[in-house]
Amino acid sequence: MKLLSLKLVVLFSLLICIGCTNENQKTVNKVGFSQTGFADDWRKAMNQSMLIQAAFNSNIELNILDGEDSVEKQIKDIDKLIKEKVDVLIVSPVKSKPITPIVEKAYKSGIPVLVVDRKIEGANYTAYIGGDNYQVGADAASYLASVENNESNILEIKGLAGSSPALERSLGFNNIINKTQNLNVVASINSNWESYSIKDSLRDLLKGNKHINYIFAHNDRLALGAWEVLKEKGLQENVKIIGVDGLPGPNGGIQLVQQGILMATMLYPTGGDETMKLVSMILNNEKVSKNNVLKTIVIDSRNAEIMKNQYDKIAQHQLDIESQQERINRQEQTYSTQRNVLRVVLILLFTSIILGGYSIYSGYKIKKSKRELEIQNNKITVQRNQIKKIAEEVKTSNEAKVNFFTGLSHEFKTPLTLILSSIDSLSDSKVVKEGKMQSEVGLIFNNSKRLLRLINQLLDFRKIEDRKFILKASETNLFEFSRIVFKDFEREAQKRGIKFSLECNNESLKVFLDRNLMDKVYFNLLSNAFKFTPDNGRVSIKIEDDSESNFVKIHFKDSGIGIPDNEIKNVFKAFYHGSNNSQPSSGIGLHISKEFIELHKGDIEVFSKHGTEFIISLYKGKAHLNPEEIVFEPDVIDDSILKFENDYEDDTFNQQNLESSEEHYSILIIEDNRDLLKYLKEKLKSEYKVYTSEGNDAIEKALEIVPDILICDVNLPDKNGFEICKILKQDLRTSHIPTIILTALNDKDSYIKGLQSGADLYLTKPFSFGILFQSIKTLLFNREKLRYYYVNNMHKIEGDQNFGLFEQNFITSINKLIEDNLDNSKFSVEQLAEALNISRVQLYRKMKAILGVNISDYIMNIRLDRAKVLLETSPLTVSEIAYATGFSTPNYFSTTFKSKYNVSPKTYRTDYLKD
Ligand code: FRU
Repeated sequence: MKLLSLKLVVLFSLLICIGCTNENQKTVNKVGFSQTGFADDWRKAMNQSMLIQAAFNSNIELNILDGEDSVEKQIKDIDKLIKEKVDVLIVSPVKSKPITPIVEKAYKSGIPVLVVDRKIEGANYTAYIGGDNYQVGADAASYLASVENNESNILEIKGLAGSSPALERSLGFNNIINKTQNLNVVASINSNWESYSIKDSLRDLLKGNKHINYIFAHNDRLALGAWEVLKEKGLQENVKIIGVDGLPGPNGGIQLVQQGILMATMLYPTGGDETMKLVSMILNNEKVSKNNVLKTIVIDSRNAEIMKNQYDKIAQHQLDIESQQERINRQEQTYSTQRNVLRVVLILLFTSIILGGYSIYSGYKIKKSKRELEIQNNKITVQRNQIKKIAEEVKTSNEAKVNFFTGLSHEFKTPLTLILSSIDSLSDSKVVKEGKMQSEVGLIFNNSKRLLRLINQLLDFRKIEDRKFILKASETNLFEFSRIVFKDFEREAQKRGIKFSLECNNESLKVFLDRNLMDKVYFNLLSNAFKFTPDNGRVSIKIEDDSESNFVKIHFKDSGIGIPDNEIKNVFKAFYHGSNNSQPSSGIGLHISKEFIELHKGDIEVFSKHGTEFIISLYKGKAHLNPEEIVFEPDVIDDSILKFENDYEDDTFNQQNLESSEEHYSILIIEDNRDLLKYLKEKLKSEYKVYTSEGNDAIEKALEIVPDILICDVNLPDKNGFEICKILKQDLRTSHIPTIILTALNDKDSYIKGLQSGADLYLTKPFSFGILFQSIKTLLFNREKLRYYYVNNMHKIEGDQNFGLFEQNFITSINKLIEDNLDNSKFSVEQLAEALNISRVQLYRKMKAILGVNISDYIMNIRLDRAKVLLETSPLTVSEIAYATGFSTPNYFSTTFKSKYNVSPKTYRTDYLKD
């Protein structure tokens, strides 16, 4: 419908436009007129009448060119009109012969040619129109003969020689004169049709003795010129003149006759009107006569008046017609404007009708489609809600499954850790060793480990999918790190006769690695290498440090079955299973490895030609890592500390090799898994004083015991590990205790939570007991180092960055309280603890923990230090100093001072002043 209405509008507009075009695009015919010249009135009158006629005919465009009475100019003009391809050519030739060729050219080129007034030679033109010049001459002669019976002499003043009127008029005149008895043409003068050209010749002629009675001049202008000369001579009454043309108006022949200047004039019509009529006929393809002769009459005193009146009337009519024409033109213009306005109005009306119709139709259509859309929309909304509901159900069920799966995997980890740790203990027992059960135990151990690795891989895969990994890169000696993993596979290599090597061109090179992740990468690559390498084959690790580049490359090469060319690009894809791999595999090991390497911003490539080669490229330095990805870890655990002494792979720490510390530190383990709790207690009890809590009473126990170190699980029945840690770290009494969070949660969020809670270390299950053990040692050692520092820099504690805020405030408060009570011998530890709002025991333990000193000794030391300074600098007596520094008696002061500085206060002062 829309298209149809548009089509209608267009069609209607087109029709109207076509109408307009027809009206406006009337063919205009070009009519060219090569006029002899514009100078004289006869030509002017002729031009005027032609222009008026052309104006009546709106499809004629008349162009009149001035030949300036020159043959050359006229030839040029005609040539120009030929080139313009005029539809009709009108020529009034200056002379006959020289103009004939150019007129013939026009005619032969197909342009209809009208010859007017003067003739050309031959008949190569369409039609001729003009007065009968022979008759003009003849009539003039006949008139003379009719009025003169006596012997009379005549002077003939001829027109331009070579022009047909001059020739014909003369011929007609002379033919009749010759037939008379009394009339004689006694002389003739040639002219160029204008009076100035004859005056001199006439004067000369009149000087002679020839008597002239009549003058026949070929036109009225020549006739007037002759009269003027006669008048000069006073002969104007003696000679009678006959002219030709008979124009109305001033100096026209009619007036000259009326004035008595001319005896008569022969009417020679210009034929302007008639010429234009012939033009119209030619343009309308009407047949025209070749020769169109215009009538001539004699005008003399008898009819001059009538003629003049006639002409005046005609002129008046002419003016009327012109004004009528103008009015018609104006009306036509108004009509044309009105017609155009009407058309526009019609178009608009039609368009608005169409558009109105269309808008009603579209309104209906829109309503209809809106209704349909609403129905559809409702359907879609229902469907969308259904989909949303299904998606939510799927999501919930999926989440439940995944959570179940993840939870289950986590659940597996603790029992597996226990199994592994128990086997470790079992392997040492005599029963196993002597009962030759070692291989069975080894089998259980290896398979448990394998199971654990698989679970870890699955959990890692999920963590990668969730983008939850956060890199914890620590500066690591790459060779040492590689050597430790290398050792894990050495035994298998030995058993299967595989040549297994580790090479490194820079053994001291340290790179930033997430040891946990990189350990998995190494393990994966080496497991694969060993899996696909036949017995007696070759597996190698080669570390290449190119000092020129920013990378270190680690090559893992084997002489195994290799990877088919077309599959090589898939090896890092998840769940990819090589076509030549018949062994069971999860298909995620290499995928995880690549992800881990990429977490390090490194790259892993694979090549396969006579075996397989994986090349890991890692950045040197730490510029490529974000600050939060960098952690501090002690150097790679050395073999001398962690001894792998079992027959099978085991990284469990061997307790017997530990140096036992003289003093037993206390450890509080908070763990709800009783087995693990028991296991850890068993493992640590020889070295530490172990306290345990299953979670419910964790905080109470920690406050009561104030242990030297705290190990805390996360998932606990009451408060979770993070909360417990946070509470204890914010309590002055326990804030100094190094805390290890031990958990199966190894995702980024939990790690961050752990750090936020203030934990000093975050270990994920299954943990290596060796690492846990070493971590405990390191934390205690660091605490010891700090303590040493505090003791030696007690006065610098304030504002020290290494000091925990709590400890800093604690020591500052203690110092201030002691200073304030320096001269108070009764100021006791109890009073101090009370002022600090903690118990005496807690104060004692806190001091011991952070400064390693007994609080009573600490107070005493401050008193003695101050006394020493006073001995050196003050004028006070020893007794006065004793009281000022809080000693109850001078004797007690002396004894105590002596026991610390090995000299009595008195002697110290004398010696000091002597120096
Ligand atoms: C005008 C004129 C007329 C004459 C005619 C002859 O130019 O001289 O006076 O009758 O030409 O062609």
